[in-house]
Parts: sequence; C-alpha cells; structure tokens
Amino acid sequence: MSILKLYLLLFLVLLSSASESIAEELEEEFTEALLLRPLPDRKVLAHFHFQSSAPPTQTYGRHHHLFPKSIYQLVHKFQIREMELSFTQGRWNYERWGGYDPISSSNAKPPGVELWADFDVPQHQVDDSWKNLTHALSGLFCASINFLEHSTAYSAPQWSFRSFSGKLRYGTLPREAVCTENLTPWLKLLPCRDKAGISSLMDRPSIYRGYYHSQRLHLKSDEFATSESRTGIVLEQSLTVVLQPNTLGSGGTFSGKISQPSWSLSSLFGRKVSGKCSLSNSGNVYVQFEQNLVSQFNELKKHSETSKNEILIRDGFQSNPLFELSLPPKRVIKEADNLQKEGSILYEFSVKDYDESEPFDLGLRWKSPVVWSCQQAPLRASRFLLGSGNERGAIAISLKSTRSNNLLKSGCNEKERWLKVGIFQVVPWYVKVYYHTLEVFVDGELQSTMDNVEQIRVSPSEDKVSPGVMEMVLRLPCSVKTAALTIEFDKGFLHIDEYPPDANQGFDIPSAVVSFIDFLANISFDDDSLKKVPILSKLQEKIPVLSYTEVLLVPLTTPDFSMPYNVITITCTVFALYFGSLLNALRRRAGEEERLLKEQAGRGAGPLTLMLSKLSAKLRRKTWEPPQSSSSFSRSSSINYKLIVKVILVAGVAAVWQFYFQ
Ligand SMILES: *[C@@H]1O[C@H](CO)[C@@H](O)[C@H](O)[C@H]1NC(C)=O
Ligand SMILES: *[C@@H]1O[C@H](CO)[C@@H](O)[C@H](O)[C@H]1NC(C)=O
Repeated sequence: MSILKLYLLLFLVLLSSASESIAEELEEEFTEALLLRPLPDRKVLAHFHFQSSAPPTQTYGRHHHLFPKSIYQLVHKFQIREMELSFTQGRWNYERWGGYDPISSSNAKPPGVELWADFDVPQHQVDDSWKNLTHALSGLFCASINFLEHSTAYSAPQWSFRSFSGKLRYGTLPREAVCTENLTPWLKLLPCRDKAGISSLMDRPSIYRGYYHSQRLHLKSDEFATSESRTGIVLEQSLTVVLQPNTLGSGGTFSGKISQPSWSLSSLFGRKVSGKCSLSNSGNVYVQFEQNLVSQFNELKKHSETSKNEILIRDGFQSNPLFELSLPPKRVIKEADNLQKEGSILYEFSVKDYDESEPFDLGLRWKSPVVWSCQQAPLRASRFLLGSGNERGAIAISLKSTRSNNLLKSGCNEKERWLKVGIFQVVPWYVKVYYHTLEVFVDGELQSTMDNVEQIRVSPSEDKVSPGVMEMVLRLPCSVKTAALTIEFDKGFLHIDEYPPDANQGFDIPSAVVSFIDFLANISFDDDSLKKVPILSKLQEKIPVLSYTEVLLVPLTTPDFSMPYNVITITCTVFALYFGSLLNALRRRAGEEERLLKEQAGRGAGPLTLMLSKLSAKLRRKTWEPPQSSSSFSRSSSINYKLIVKVILVAGVAAVWQFYFQ
C-alpha cells in the first residue's frame, strides 16, 4: 500500500515538474554574434552584437543567473520602457561606409555620448526620473553623463524622434571623450566579459586604433505593460568599429588596380576565438557582402557559363575566382530578391566547434580587384555655419541628392510624389535662434516656406532653463537635386561661472537627426526561421533610414580670463611699492641718526675702521673722504608726512577699486 502511495507521489512530482517545464518556456538567454563586412575604401566593418534577455518578473521572479543585475535594477527603479546609450569616437562616413542599411541607421551615432530614454511613469515624474537615471548611468559607465541632468542639457522631442508618448527625453554630450574606462563597465554586463567567446577579440589597442568606434547599449522592457504577452527585458549591446586591415605582405596590384586588402581575424584584432562563451546559446560570425558588391561579382562573372548567384552560393567560399574564405561556411543566407536588384549575401560560421587547440581564425583573401560603392540614403545631409563675427550667424542644413536616383523614385510617395525628410535639431540656449527667419531653398531657389514644410514644432529656448528644439517634416519634390534650410541666430552671453575651462575652443551644437520617413533600412530574408537569430532579426527590423549631421563649433564672445590676474598683479605691485617706502620711512629715526653721526664725527673713527675704509676706497678707485656730518636729515621728517598721506590715499583708492570689482 505504502509503495503504491510512493509511486503515486513520484508520479505527481514528475507530472508537476513536466507542467512546470512547459510554463517555463521563457528562459534567460544570451547570444553573441559578430558581423564583418568589407568596405569600399579598403577598410573592414566589425559589428559585435550581444543580446541578453530576462523573462517578465511576474512569471519568472527576480532572480537571474545571466541577466546583469545592475540593468535589471535600473529598469525597475526608474520604470524604463526603452533606453539607448551610446559612446562614440570618430564620425561615420556615410558616403563611403553606407547610409542605407540597418547598421548605419541604427549604429552610426553622433560623436560623444548620446542618451535617450522613454519612461513609464506619470508625466510629472519624468524629469525627476531622467535626472536620477543620468546619475545612475554616470556611476555605472564612468562617464560624465550626469551633466545631462540640467534642464538646459536635455530636451523632450514630441514626434520626430522615435516615440509619440511624450515621456521620452533626449540628451547628448558631444565633447565627451570615450576610452577604455567606458568599455570595461560595458563588458562587465556580459556573462563571459571578454574572457571567452567572441568578445575575447576585443583587444583594446586594435579596437581604439580604428577609424570609428561606437559602443551602444539598447534596452527594451515591457515589465510595466498591462498586456498578457510580455517578453520581459531585452538588453542589446553592440560595438561597431571600422578597422584598417594590415596590408603588409598581402594584397598587391592587379593590372594597375589596387586590390582590396586581405584580412583575417588574427590580423584585424591580433587574437583568435577559442570557442563560444559557454553561457551563450549561440556564437556566430557572419561575413556580409553588400548588394552593390554582389552585383559587381555578377558583372565580372557574366561571361562564365554558370549563371548569377549560383557561383557565390554553391562554391563561393573555395573555388570562386574573386575571393576565398579560409573556412567553409555553415550556411549561406541570401537576401530576398527584389525586382531589379540583387540582394546582399551573408556567410554564416559557428565558433562552437572550435577550441583552444584549434582556434577559430576566419580569413578573407581577394583574388582580383573589385570596385563598388555603398548604398546611400536618398539625400546626403550636412550642416554648417554662415556669417562671421561674434554677434550673429546662421545655421544651414544642406541636403544633396545622391547618385542612386532610381532608388529615390521607388521610395517616393506614389500618390503625392513627395519625398519626406524629418529633421530634429536641438540648440543650446546661448545660441538664440530666430525661428521666423527659417528659409527653405529647393534647387537653389527660395521657396515660400510653408509650401515645403509639412509639419513643424518649435519650442524656443529659455535663458538658462531649456534648449531650443525644432522638429519638422520637409516635403520635397521627388526630382530634387539640392535643398537647403537656413535659420539665423544671435549669440548670447554667459555668466563667468558658466564658461567651461577651455572656453576659447568654442561651443558645440549637437548633431541634427535627419530621417527619411518613407525609406526603410531593413534586409528581408526569405527564410522565416532566421527571425529567431537576434542579430538577423535586428537586420530585418523595419526602421526608417536615419543619419546624423556634423557637430557644429560656435565661437562665442569670451571674457579675457587673464584680466583678474592682471588686476591682482598690478594691485600687488602698487601695494608693495608704497608699503615698502612707507615702512622704510617709518623705520628711520632722523634725530637718533643725526646724534649718532655727530658722535662718530666727534669721537673720530677707530684706526682699524679708518684703514678699512681707505682700503675699500682704493679698491673702488675713488679718493677717500673722511666721514662728515650731514644736515639733510632735518628736512626728511616733513617729507615723510607727505609720503604717508600719499600712501594712504593710494591704498584707499585701491581698496575702493577692489570692492567695486567684486
Ligand atoms: C530621485 O532621487 C531623489 C534623491 O535621491 C529622490 O528624492 C527622488 O524620489 C528620486 N526620484 C525618482 C523619480 O526616482
Ligand atoms: C523591408 O521589408 C519589407 C517587408 O518585409 C520589404 O518589402 C522591403 O523590400 C524591405 N526593404 C529592403 C530595403 O529590403
């Protein structure tokens, strides 16, 4: 009987554990991936992507073994719905490295620090949460993010920047220097840090030697949402670097043309990967050949009997006449064919099967030279200053059509034949922008402004309280070649305490964000199962094409900071002179000296002193005169009184001057 009971109990236990495992479908997950892409200007783009996710607290609890605790606490303390923090050094070259793909749209960032966060708190608490969040992040990442706490440093975009909730705050620090002390805390959030897996490639000297370096942290949570199907918190960390491969010994010229440099992981990073991080679900390396490069291959291969992509896909990695990959790929992923153009191709490698004894070291060797160009956004945006002098100036944003005009047509709104361009611009309060001076030029001709502005929202700056924000959607004809936007400003004055230590360098106006609303920068793959791989699902996400303009440096009137120093030295000199002579005059006792001299003359000098004075006179080649009494001292006392009065007068003037200057 008891045995039967025991069996029953065992059965129940098994049953319950089975049902539990069904409920626990959502597990903490971590994946790592690296995407490599040759760039047209002989550089290589390396994009590291790490994703950690934690299931919702309600079903999973608050105990995690993979997800970083600091991030979990941050989300819960400040009720963050979405947040992005990036540290960037260098400027993304949209012309050479592409402006129309998911990586440039979501990973090309303005120099310095950029932070935006969307909160899930009542409207009146948003600013407080933002302030506390900047302080927490500042401590977490060893950066001066806390400078974003002042209301002059952040803004609240309404609709042009991502969300429509009104609870989003956005701030940038263009001058923040980014270095390894920011990377180390970022790596600490990974379960294997940089000790194992793909992140072990992050050799600091190789990474910081690059032309562009951007480290990003993106956080999305639906912990506070009310809907049933919640996914929890997803933390996405990416590091995008543009490196120049070492061309020594490899490469060379083919009939006059310079070939692309060959590279391998060990030549790029100086390290190899010995297996994946044991805590990660997958560790994949991808090599991407862009659309335009693929069509170049096909151009070159036209004469050959095998047709089109077959070559690249079937035996692309070994016997292909254009390039050679040192390892066989696990699979080849092709972008879904569009009507006219060929899609890009991704070669996938898994680092799972490699270990210490046989490390993963992927290499790419070019066999013949190819020339191609990256896909561009429909318009190239750049921004510059107009005017001279320290009083006023103007900001100009110029938009130039890129060569790919057929692309422009396809993205144009079919019915209305307009191209829509969103512009989001934050200007610090000491640059006082006059929004009524906004002028729009299309193909060099001044337009009556409102014809081309579809939507505009302006919030003027308030002195020492808030920055000026301009959000607008421009509507340009599809055939546009160039467009420009100018807006005038006056330069304000700061209080002496508000100047930074190097005020003469100038002041930064943060990058403007230019977005092309009707253009999506996504890659679409035929295979739906690829949506499960985080990096590939990221590439397929539908985000509008986005680019940042340059940071502007505005010289402001700065006071002569050496002035206080000059005042201090002059005052000190005057004081020293007058007090010196005053003390000298006071110390002298005229009557006493007179008596002493008389006494000396009466007594006559001793024989020794007489001899000494004779000797010194001889040495100085002068005739020796015997000491005699003088009568000039009688006048000196009256002079002293005049002197004292003068000294007191000057000291009084100096004191009044000092007082006035305070
Ligand atoms: C922010 O921090 C201050 C001081 O620590 C605290 O009093 C306040 O409640 C916090 N606000 C929010 C919204 O967390
Ligand atoms: C983006 O995705 C949509 C739908 O999946 C697709 O039609 C479109 O061609 C994609 N865009 C690009 C640039 O591939």
